[in-house]
Amino acid sequence: MKDLSAYDFSTQAVHGGTEPEPITGAIMTPVFQTSTYVQPEPAVAKVHEYSRTGNPTRDALQGALATLEGSQIPAVCFASGMAAIDSVLRLLSSGDHVVAGDDLYGGTYRLFTKILQRFGLEFTFVDMSNPINVEKAIQDNTKLIWAETPTNPLLKIADLGAISALAKSAGVWLAVDNTFATPYVQRPFEHGADFVIHSTTKYCGGHSDVVGGAVIVQDQELSDRLCFVQNSVGAVPGPWDCFLTLRGLKTLHLRMERHCHNAAGIAAFLEEHEQVERVLYPGLESHTNHEVAKRQMLAFGGMVSFELKGSLEQARQLCMETKVFALAESLGGVESLIEQPATMTHASVDPEVRRSIGLADGLLRLSVGVESLKDLQGDLEQAMAKVK
Ligand SMILES: Cc1ncc(COP(=O)(O)O)c(C=O)c1O
Repeated sequence: MKDLSAYDFSTQAVHGGTEPEPITGAIMTPVFQTSTYVQPEPAVAKVHEYSRTGNPTRDALQGALATLEGSQIPAVCFASGMAAIDSVLRLLSSGDHVVAGDDLYGGTYRLFTKILQRFGLEFTFVDMSNPINVEKAIQDNTKLIWAETPTNPLLKIADLGAISALAKSAGVWLAVDNTFATPYVQRPFEHGADFVIHSTTKYCGGHSDVVGGAVIVQDQELSDRLCFVQNSVGAVPGPWDCFLTLRGLKTLHLRMERHCHNAAGIAAFLEEHEQVERVLYPGLESHTNHEVAKRQMLAFGGMVSFELKGSLEQARQLCMETKVFALAESLGGVESLIEQPATMTHASVDPEVRRSIGLADGLLRLSVGVESLKDLQGDLEQAMAKVK
């Protein structure tokens, strides 16, 4: 993997992982749409022997993602963000304990509580906005701390430096799902993380056209163990998906700059709006952990959540009245999206649990895209007028 650590993020984003193709000089890594590779002699491979185990288009993507997160070891890519998360948990054994955030992506919570618990893993969910909650939850059999920051959908911020200090003194791993922030905004390794996880479906791919996931580590032994899981379980991305994600990644810095700018504008606009009860955005001074966010993030991301003062029905209706914001799950694409977590992305979380962590049924989540800020504000304004 070529070392681009001396270069700025934007140069790394454009050149990370890719070399001109040796035969034709093609500047963009081709889609190596092949399942197998012809070998010169038995048990000797030119580079790869079978595409579950390795593929050149995947190699390029794995190199690019590692470069952006600041690792010299290629990322390990998967067919989805959930497969990436599952692969990290497969490094644990029955009877091991995990301390996880209480406001995780609904699918992650479902994987932990509905599947992995059945195989003997134990979980404690805590509000990671305060590191003391993490400290109190660590047990003798704790092996892993699982953090999302900002969280989905309440945009809580965990102090990664403080939590990694706890992890180190307890001898446990810290894994950070960096999907919401992206490496443009936040580099978890600089704060002591052992694993960085992405749903590359979101900002990394960035164009709402591909599903994928990745795990990045800085330790060769951990990487070997993850590659063993990747090859043994087989939840690998196809070469075409890798190509699309790699293409998206080359403009991550440009898109993120605009996502962050637009989201900050929308958050400020909503905070001033008479129909809005509260706005959750780490860039607002009113955010509980704004100071921590300022310390560990370069900007504050493209996600904004808010509650209306009106009824639940009004919140539901607002989602259907926007014209530029599309009503859809997912996030991180160039198009702006609006959704209601309680009935959509987080419907798999028990209503009691949702209530206990402050995820109101009327909460709306915006993935603020890269359109004109004026048009996005205007769209929300006209939709609010209709539900008044
Ligand atoms: C923070 C976070 N992590 C992981 C995932 C799962 O990723 P995927 O949908 O690519 O499996 C999501 C999906 O929304 C997410 O928001």
